[in-house]
Amino acid sequence: MSRKKIAAANWKMNLSYTEASTLLDQLLEVCPTNAINKIICAPFPYLHLCSEKIAGRIDFSVGAQDCSAHAKGAYTGETSAAMITSCGASYVIVGHSERRTYHRESSEHLLGKIHQAFSANLNVIFCIGEVLAQRKAGEHKDVVVNQLLEVLSGLGKEHISKLTLAYEPVWAIGTGETATPEQAQEMHAIIRNQMNAMFGDEGGQVAILYGGSCNAKNAKELFACNDVDGGLIGGASLIADDFATITTSF
Ligand code: PGA
Repeated sequence: MSRKKIAAANWKMNLSYTEASTLLDQLLEVCPTNAINKIICAPFPYLHLCSEKIAGRIDFSVGAQDCSAHAKGAYTGETSAAMITSCGASYVIVGHSERRTYHRESSEHLLGKIHQAFSANLNVIFCIGEVLAQRKAGEHKDVVVNQLLEVLSGLGKEHISKLTLAYEPVWAIGTGETATPEQAQEMHAIIRNQMNAMFGDEGGQVAILYGGSCNAKNAKELFACNDVDGGLIGGASLIADDFATITTSF
């Protein structure tokens, strides 16, 4: 069984409704139909629009950037996993470092979100990665292994087919400083071994994306690494031609 190849766009809190609509039209035009799964992670208010636009392109999916850890009810401002599904999206990012940092999301809270996502039949892109001080202190390997253990130990094997991982060294996100292919491969191999230890062969087959200043210029050398199955792309996903180049860099 070969692992999925994925180019995921994380639009973050960018683009007006009209700009998002135009960008998606451009992406559908310039990204060739191929075996690479292209996932557009858009802001909540654009999920339905994006889902309607990608209909007919089986190589495209739509995702949200977060979901609530609660199923429904009096949680003003929250968006449930079921709401995301009802807008036609099939993926959700959980545990992005910007959420962990700015919203102090704990491992327990992240596990709650993942359970809600699976209950609503969403696929999860779970993000892990160390900050610069941890890498400088030589703690980066332990940090990501602990992030996997703390959250994913709460899952059963039956969930693994709906899980994708994204290794995003926090020092590389939005900074223009990318991990070298050697650094990325080293971490991805550690993550894959850990998944294997936790979930057996199926765990080892989970797609692991690299994220952090991945762009049209460096995607090819990153995706050439044995254990890198694609990318989670922030800044470069806002430029249609750049994202298209990334989707053909496998
Ligand atoms: P970046 O963001 O590509 O702009 O570094 C990646 C991410 O945060 O997912």
